[in-house]
Amino acid sequence: MVGMQIADIADEIDHELVSKAQIEAKITEVAWQVSRDYQGKNPLLIAVLKGAINTIAAFSQALSIPAQLDFMSLSSYGSGTTSQGTVTVRQDLSSDVRGRHILIVEDIVDSGHTLAWLVDELKRRGAASVEIFALLEKPSRREVQVDVKYRGYEIPDEFVVGFGLDYDERFRNLDSIAVLKSEVYQGEQA
Ligand code: IMP
Ligand code: MG
Repeated sequence: MVGMQIADIADEIDHELVSKAQIEAKITEVAWQVSRDYQGKNPLLIAVLKGAINTIAAFSQALSIPAQLDFMSLSSYGSGTTSQGTVTVRQDLSSDVRGRHILIVEDIVDSGHTLAWLVDELKRRGAASVEIFALLEKPSRREVQVDVKYRGYEIPDEFVVGFGLDYDERFRNLDSIAVLKSEVYQGEQA
């Protein structure tokens, strides 16, 4: 099945950073590790909406152990490309996390504010353990220390879209991860 590819939006994309094949390979590799580490633990996978939906979908399908899924909508970004630093809950989980082994599935760790807040919150609610899988990390942008146990790709400090990641709600359905042309967000208040 062929979805939206870079060629379809070439006028707005600067270059591809992580290909569809690379994304799939990394998710499969991490799923294999997690299936081994969480054997018999019935983990609760938590994705932060909306960016992590593609990652949690592919990741959960690649696991060879039973797992449950839940979602939370947090906001640390406005419609632009820079962090606002504060985290607000727009939509909460439907599960009780008390005594559960939680694996947070994230699209990208940028400043780290969102994840640092979420890890604390889940522990405060009584989770038995909380670990993180992040498909992408921008190490040069980190402001808060977060322990990412399962790591995907490190990327440079560039704004990326695709595979769930958006710019102003666009490009989430691109099948790979790519750097936007700066003209696309030119004039945006950073
Ligand atoms: P943090 O709290 O600064 O780590 O922000 C994390 C969230 O910001 C991610 O889950 C994304 O939703 C969003 N984000 C950070 N960098 C990018 C990017 O390059 N493209 C799209 N969204 C991003
Ligand atoms: Mg996110």
